[in-house]
Amino acid sequence: VARRRILITGATDGIGLALARRLADQHDLLLTGRRPMVEGLPSGVLYVRADQADPVAAATIVDAALSASGWHALDLAILNAGTGFAAKDGFDDPATIRLTLDVNLSSAVALSSMLFARLAAASGGLVLIGSTARRGSAAFPAYAASKAALHGFARALRAEWRGRVAVQMLHPGPTATAMHAKAGFDPGRMRAVFAGDMEMAAMIEDAIASGAAGADLSFLRRVFAVALRRHRPERRL
Ligand SMILES: NC(=O)c1ccc[n+]([C@@H]2O[C@H](COP(=O)([O-])OP(=O)(O)OC[C@H]3O[C@@H](n4cnc5c(N)ncnc54)[C@H](OP(=O)(O)O)[C@@H]3O)[C@@H](O)[C@H]2O)c1
Repeated sequence: VARRRILITGATDGIGLALARRLADQHDLLLTGRRPMVEGLPSGVLYVRADQADPVAAATIVDAALSASGWHALDLAILNAGTGFAAKDGFDDPATIRLTLDVNLSSAVALSSMLFARLAAASGGLVLIGSTARRGSAAFPAYAASKAALHGFARALRAEWRGRVAVQMLHPGPTATAMHAKAGFDPGRMRAVFAGDMEMAAMIEDAIASGAAGADLSFLRRVFAVALRRHRPERRL
């Protein structure tokens, strides 16, 4: 396996951290998060704090970190950082709407345009992490809107960057991370059918390696694949 330079945003927790743990042995990783310094990251990785509540500032910080590391070409960027908040009585307040859109959408736009030259230099790939909630989620209207918009952004970017940088849009289904508790939402017994974080990371890695333009990823999808005996060894990056 060729060693690659990979950026993963939101790698301090949940799916991003699980991805970092899967990839750290084989690749060079630059991880980002909101927390100052993080314990529990795999050894040997680079980490930079970049709060995506300010999308342009976060993109500038990541750009500086890439330059400081001499990463003028970047093989893969996985824009995974995300946030969501359960709406009270079906309504998000204005500050929550703005924060959700800034972290989940505007930051992806700012980071993507900042990363283009480095990704193109490596004939690399951009992976955007959406959500199956993009189709609508009663408890999370602003979150669902941010992910639906991200999907539209990915389609536009794929056309724009064709032949230079590959763009993949991956939509995880419900996954057992701390995200729901941070969002103020208790999934109750539904949690029993959530994918595990390492399992979702494996599905994401497999989807990236497949080169698919887009995919919905859920625990049930994998269960069905096994049941239908179409399971095959997962692809690694
Ligand atoms: N869990 C699910 O059921 C599910 C389903 C579909 C899609 N997703 C998507 O998968 C991605 C990862 O979610 P997850 O479940 O792993 O959630 P998570 O465990 O809460 O991790 C989210 C990551 O994003 C970071 N982050 C949040 N706000 C940020 C900000 N303002 N600036 C920079 N980083 C920020 C978090 O940092 P802190 O820990 O410091 O906040 C953390 O590293 C998200 O895009 C999410 O929308 C999740």
